[in-house]
Amino acid sequence: MPLTKREFNKFLLGGALLATSGLMEESMAQTATASNPTTNKKEETMPFTLPNLPYAENALEPYMSAKTFSFHHGKHHKAYVDNLNKLITGTDMEKATLEEIIKASAKDSTKQGIFNNSAQVWNHTFFWNCMKPNGGGKPSGDLAKKIDSDLGGLDKFKEDFKTAATTQFGSGWAWLVSDGGKLKIIKTANADLPLAHGQKALLTCDVWEHAYYLDYQNRRPDFVTTFLDKLANWDFAAKNLG
Ligand SMILES: [Fe+2]
Repeated sequence: MPLTKREFNKFLLGGALLATSGLMEESMAQTATASNPTTNKKEETMPFTLPNLPYAENALEPYMSAKTFSFHHGKHHKAYVDNLNKLITGTDMEKATLEEIIKASAKDSTKQGIFNNSAQVWNHTFFWNCMKPNGGGKPSGDLAKKIDSDLGGLDKFKEDFKTAATTQFGSGWAWLVSDGGKLKIIKTANADLPLAHGQKALLTCDVWEHAYYLDYQNRRPDFVTTFLDKLANWDFAAKNLG
């Protein structure tokens, strides 16, 4: 049964909160019954499955095409899921949740492949929810206040987020995160993500070329501007802030 958006948000928020508070291991019994964004099922361990998009493949056109989604979600995201399942089969991670796999492999240089694929599964599931039809606009409530107080307001946030996204050399991600209660803009390389650094992700933009090349070719700055002005899901970011 597909997750409702509320259930999905609750799961992601729960994982992020637990990760930052260091209670992940202690929470296994609790999270065993939580819904998993990668499986859309009650159980949340291997085998992970590709989650459905939270909207139709063509819902973000003309800003992000169905063709981009057919590759980005249908091929790239699926490959990360399939690779992760293969890599953890027969290991002690078979019974672990996605967040547990990410946190454990982030600290173990011998598990780089597992980290890359598990983190990319999480990142992409999160990214799809960071966008919505008729997105962009302005955040409201506490998130808007914190963007004003911590980041100098929405215009400054957009400028700095765009700088982070366009100066990430090669593949990676730009993020709005909460770090110890303070909002920050960060960029990460390849599969790296805030969860591995004790930060809570609020919003992200995928700046791997596969995210934008079919629609924007080499114009990453145009893609990031469009993400911020037309696609960003501020409701989702606000729920992640809690
Ligand atoms: Fe991607």
